[in-house]
This record gives sequence, structure tokens and C-alpha cells, in this order.
Amino acid sequence: MPTSQHAQPVVAGSATCLVVDDEPGVRRFLIRMLQAQGFQCFEAASGREALRVLDRIGEPPLIVSDMRMPEMDGITFLEVVRARYPDTSVIMLTGVSETSTAVDCLHRGAADFLLKPISMSELQARVSRALEKRALVLQNRFYQEHLERQVHEQAVRIQELFLQGVQMLARALEAKDAYTRGHSIRVSQYAVATASRMGFEGVSLDGIRLGGELHDIGKIGTREAVLHKPGSLTDEEFRQITEHPLLGERMLSPLAQESPDVLRIVRSHHERLDGRGFPDGLRGAKIPIEARIVAVADAFDAMTTRRPYRESRPPIEALAELRRVAGSQLDPEAVEAFVEAYPSERAVELYV
Ligand SMILES: [Fe+2]
Repeated sequence: MPTSQHAQPVVAGSATCLVVDDEPGVRRFLIRMLQAQGFQCFEAASGREALRVLDRIGEPPLIVSDMRMPEMDGITFLEVVRARYPDTSVIMLTGVSETSTAVDCLHRGAADFLLKPISMSELQARVSRALEKRALVLQNRFYQEHLERQVHEQAVRIQELFLQGVQMLARALEAKDAYTRGHSIRVSQYAVATASRMGFEGVSLDGIRLGGELHDIGKIGTREAVLHKPGSLTDEEFRQITEHPLLGERMLSPLAQESPDVLRIVRSHHERLDGRGFPDGLRGAKIPIEARIVAVADAFDAMTTRRPYRESRPPIEALAELRRVAGSQLDPEAVEAFVEAYPSERAVELYV
């Protein structure tokens, strides 16, 4: 009975191959032929011993295995190999009377089967074919994975370029309006500080950061005369202002797949808890939480910076006003988180 010494390579070669058969004479014959094809051969006398060899040598490109063996039969061995080493080609050896089992082997993932007695030319032809097929499968998979990675990288790059573009637009919007200079960045920083208090982290926090920065991007489409008007607005002018969330959402639609939270912020940052906001008149929890957070940050920054139609208010007053409108206009939880985050946030101190 063969022992583990059979796990030693019989001869050096380029590709490895495992020969599994309980008859030593058959093994020797197979090994000689496979060595002639350039294989470095390992051998085992049973399925169980073969699995021990595989544990040690790893996944070989080729296994040639007998069907009938003690301890573990060929079919069971094949199934274990397919599960553990899916990239190994397995050629099964069968007697003439076992042809139906041989077909069964193919269904269970064997690369091929050979009928005993085995001829040298037949074995070598089948081995070459099995390895060629394996190489094609591996190559295909490599191309597929490579291609998928490339497509993904390109999609990420396109998104980055798009974001750079809209961020530049946001800067351009502020550059033409002295009153809102720094507004987007401050709103973004306030919103991030507030959201962190509320337990947001990772990509959700990134979404709030970006959404805060871009929340007013739709104002690019609002006429400057309306944006900067010192007095009260006509109905038509008010209608123009109220369009900016929807226009912004349309502008940012390429982000819909990757960053839907950013779009929710842009669309809903002017909604009010009591349903009297725009553009959808959403109420309470119907307003996305990210937008409720940005609304608090937006309201605070609007109050604490000078606008064409009024002077700025001191932060302490603005905080009191946030609390006063919590529950009707603004989300009370977001207001409290903002108030808690406010004094400790370095970014806030920088800008106020
Ligand atoms: Fe806005």
C-alpha cells in the first residue's frame, strides 16, 4: 500500500500533476507518460491520500484519477476537488463497463474521461485538450475581471471629473455673490458636525459633506437680479427662487446611482417640518433626514451672515431662533445636535 512518500515529486518539470490510482503499476505508467509531457508528478493511492497531497502542494493544473478506489471513490474525490480547487482540470479513468458513470463525471465537472486500457497518445491528447480548455477559461476570467475593474475605474474617474466640475460651479456661484461667499463650505461643515453628533459616519457623512457643499447649485440658473434683490420679491421672482432645488437635482442627476443622498439634500433642503416648504411640501419624517440636517445648517448660516435684505445676527441669537422654529420649520433633533456641536467645532469658529 503506498504511503505519504508518494507525495514527493517524481521528477522536476514546469506544471504539476497529481496521479491518483490504487494500482502502483497504473500509476507508474501514467507518471512516465505525463513526465514525457513535461509534468512534475505527484501521486496518491486513494482519494483520501490525494486530498492530503493537495493540502500540501496547493491547486495543481491537472489531476488524473481512477474511478474505483478504496476509502474514497473517484466521484466523491472529484466532487471534493471541484469544490476546493475549481481551477484544476480533472481527467477520470474508467473501465469500459463504467461509461454511464463516466458521463456522470462530466456532469460533475470532470474535464474529460479516459477508458482503460489507456494508450499513450490518447492520454497525451486528452491532457493537452483539457489544459488548453483550462487556459482559455482562466484567460477569459482574467479578461472579464480586468475589464470590469477597468470599467469601474473609469466610472469612478468620470464621477470625479463631474464632481470637480460642479464644485467649480459652486465656487463660481459664490464668486459672483459677495453675500453668499463661503456659504456652501460653511453649510457643509456645520452639517457634517451636526450629522456626526447624530451618529452618521463613513459614506453617509461624505454624502452630507458633498450635499451641503452643493445644496444651492441650482441657483446658477436663477437670475442675479432676483438673487440679490434687496426688497421683497414678486410672486414670479419667488417662483424663480423656489425652482433652484429641482434645477440643482437635475444638474446633479449623474450622481443619482452613486450618491442618491446628495440629490435628496439638493432637492429637499427647503422643505419644512410643517409641510409649508418647497418644492414638494413634504412633512416631518417624509423629509429625508440628510436634508433636515442641511436645512438647520443653512438656516444658521443665513442668519449669521449679512444678506442684501438684512444684517447678520449674532450666533447666540441665531441658535435661539433655531430652537424657536424647531418642530415647525426645522427638525428638533437636528437643531439640538447642531447646538451641541456648535461651540466645539473648529471649522465653525474659523468661519463665524
Ligand atoms: Fe437653497
